[in-house]
Amino acid sequence: MPIKILMVCLGNICRSPLAQGILASKLPKENFIVDSAGTGSWHIDRQPDERSIAVAIKHNIDIAKQKGRQFAKNDFDAFDYIYVMDNSNYHDVIDLAHNQEQKSKVQLILNELFPNENVDVPDPYYGVSNGFEVVYQMLDETCDIIAKKLIGKHT
Ligand code: 4NP
Repeated sequence: MPIKILMVCLGNICRSPLAQGILASKLPKENFIVDSAGTGSWHIDRQPDERSIAVAIKHNIDIAKQKGRQFAKNDFDAFDYIYVMDNSNYHDVIDLAHNQEQKSKVQLILNELFPNENVDVPDPYYGVSNGFEVVYQMLDETCDIIAKKLIGKHT
């Protein structure tokens, strides 16, 4: 059975689609499945934001075929690891958990890079134009660490 990892942000159009594409590019497809979802429902079935698609392409990652979906309670059982982009996502997801086992699957993604610091991946949606590149670099660094840990543990 492949190990399943879910990336979660608010809209599922800017940060988590990038995180999905970046982590998937660092893991062997036979052993791992990476998906993403948003806590909000505005962008269900939509393509990622064109600025996320563009920054991913610049780094040779294609996220254009992803489709937005909303986080659901059954994701706690469907996934082995759930990485959230910011503290607000963390609280929204934890509020839906039924028990400690489900809560323990949820981690702030940048805590892999900056342990226990609870740093947010900033939402680039309304931000400055290079915000997507900044987010890409943060996610790339933290996904390097995540991929090495997962490969070490599960292959
Ligand atoms: P994301 O960014 O959570 O990184 O996908 C957002 C995109 C859209 C909205 C919020 C956050 N929105 O409110 O439409």
